[in-house]
Amino acid sequence: MKLTDHEKSMLDGEHGAPVQKAMEILVALGKIYDAERLIPIQSAHVAGLSLKSHGVAGMEWVEEMAASAAKVCIPTTLNVIGLDRSRDLGLPEDWCDKQMRIGKAYECMGCYGNSSCVPYYHGFTPRFGEHIAWAESSAVVYTNSVLGARDNREGGPSALAAALTGRTPLYGYHLDAERLANVHVRVSARLRNLADYGALGAFVGKRFSNAVPAFSGLSAMRTEDHVYLGAALASSGGVALYHVLGMTPDALFNDDKVLAKDCIELEVTEKELTMGREQLCSGTSRQIDYVAVGCPHCSLNQLAELARLLDGKKVNSGVTMWIHTNVAIKGLAAQLGIIDAIERSGAVVTQDLCTILSCPEALGFKNVVTNSAKMAFYAPGSNGFNIWFDDVARCVDAAVTGTYTE
Ligand code: F3S
Repeated sequence: MKLTDHEKSMLDGEHGAPVQKAMEILVALGKIYDAERLIPIQSAHVAGLSLKSHGVAGMEWVEEMAASAAKVCIPTTLNVIGLDRSRDLGLPEDWCDKQMRIGKAYECMGCYGNSSCVPYYHGFTPRFGEHIAWAESSAVVYTNSVLGARDNREGGPSALAAALTGRTPLYGYHLDAERLANVHVRVSARLRNLADYGALGAFVGKRFSNAVPAFSGLSAMRTEDHVYLGAALASSGGVALYHVLGMTPDALFNDDKVLAKDCIELEVTEKELTMGREQLCSGTSRQIDYVAVGCPHCSLNQLAELARLLDGKKVNSGVTMWIHTNVAIKGLAAQLGIIDAIERSGAVVTQDLCTILSCPEALGFKNVVTNSAKMAFYAPGSNGFNIWFDDVARCVDAAVTGTYTE
């Protein structure tokens, strides 16, 4: 791999041990993927901060890094953690203490403590063609596909290494040739809500993992539709990039150029969409004890919709309803009166955490309704939950009545 003089000096330890370690990680990655060189990047997003993924050994490792004066050299945001720093949600004390230590260690290194999986909603919005090193699969697929930034699906350590050096190896989706679609998905099913976009992503992701799908037949998609489609593709199929012909930046004007020559065709009718929905349902009992919305974290629009849906209603005494977002969006929504409007119903708008990366299972919940395909995909394994997957209006109905009905 060709390195510049500056990169060689980082690898030789002239900029300190943390930077040297980071360069070693990046060079090793570059060799694995046959990258000819490193490239400068504009921003990083570090994920894997939950105690569930870090463990105690990981917590001690990141504290050592922070103590050795490691500092990021580009704007670096942090993904969701496992507790809400603004309120006590009843989570185990030891869990919260360790989770706080992890978050603080990253902040000591100069990362923004935004604890968000949607930093592009609140001020960290990469431009078309910009090279970045973001972790968090739902954010990677959004920046690559909808914003047209150039990003690989980084893990926590490689994103941190990139943040400490301002570099990433040149391979994968940083190269135009790797961004061609190898599956053309023709959608004739009618998509009515975010859960439908999630079901579409789950169906396609399960059929073609690690593919680059290009969709046709989709029109007038809102930002949140993309977020839910991408998160589902990324979780069920490891997808890091998709195109929508005539809509997303790589495929805006040159439909033909974005499809690889040997592209496979896939039809998605109402039947396949129903299969996508069904594969996300693992529910057994219709008596519900937990309703969770906001995976990925809710936008301001989603919070406003929830305020309307919950207006004049009360969450059932046997149900806990958590609505996940982050401090930036919650702060704005609070200023606009949206948080009060939601919480009058008894629902709780959380910040910093999410169901998958925290431990709501410690509060005894078991039977869950969500409109998130990503949560429906992971929660049975990560939280031991039985999941009903449906539209947000049905989530609100279940929260109010305590019963899930299709
Ligand atoms: Fe975000 Fe947590 Fe879902 S990080 S995408 S809310 S699993």
